[in-house]
Amino acid sequence: MEGGLRRFTEDVLRREDAERRRIARELHDTTGQNLIAAGFELGAVERGLIDPSPQVSTALSHARSLVDASVSELRTLAYVLHPALLDEAGLGVALPTLAEGFEKRTGVRVAITVAEELAARRWLPEIEIALYRVAQEALTNVQRHSATKAARVALQPCAPGHMELVVEDGADGRPGDTLAPPVVEGAGIRGMRDRIDALGGSLVVTPRDGGFRITATVPTGAGPP
Ligand SMILES: Nc1ncnc2c1ncn2[C@@H]1O[C@H](COP(=O)(O)OP(=O)(O)OP(=O)(O)O)[C@@H](O)[C@H]1O
Ligand SMILES: [Mg+2]
Repeated sequence: MEGGLRRFTEDVLRREDAERRRIARELHDTTGQNLIAAGFELGAVERGLIDPSPQVSTALSHARSLVDASVSELRTLAYVLHPALLDEAGLGVALPTLAEGFEKRTGVRVAITVAEELAARRWLPEIEIALYRVAQEALTNVQRHSATKAARVALQPCAPGHMELVVEDGADGRPGDTLAPPVVEGAGIRGMRDRIDALGGSLVVTPRDGGFRITATVPTGAGPP
């Protein structure tokens, strides 16, 4: 991407990520806490009522289920907007957690490896969120498009000062196979590419037998202060 455009995209993505992070925190810390408090208050009302009519009891237990369901929906929404775990524990922890949750939700088997020397490391937040979003989109693509319903994810060092995230499904092409048709990029792959380009990295999409290999390489730069 040309320099000016890259800076522009980088700026848009950074603002968008910051906004999502802010909304997620707000939902979790404010609305979520209010709902939890409302649940407690309902409990107090329930306990304080002497001989309530069946209608009142039903209405109270209904209100209680609605509050509980809203708390859990809100948690999910906040997590989708911005995974708090990424800020708290970093990519080396958030990626395996993403893979585990994805596997449970979708039934797509995910084998994940994080190179030992990277497992506890931290990078700039824009690097961590970019790779996390790439993994998320690539896994969603496996669920939606892949023939194999199994994926491998790896986070590993590559060239000096760089690391790569590889998400692949399908099998190696058989020797003698004709070349795979060119990849028709949708918004998903374009979005991954924009994020990685904005970091000065590169995204390579390789079709495989029944699936894809996505390799996102980024300069690791300086760690957080
Ligand atoms: N893991 C995969 N296995 C097989 N085909 C894939 C895989 N990932 C992507 N594709 C193909 O590449 C195309 C482009 O993917 P991309 O993520 O850009 O768009 P999409 O998933 O179709 O839509 P969206 O914009 O909602 O992500 C897909 O439509 C699909 O045909
Ligand atoms: Mg997609």
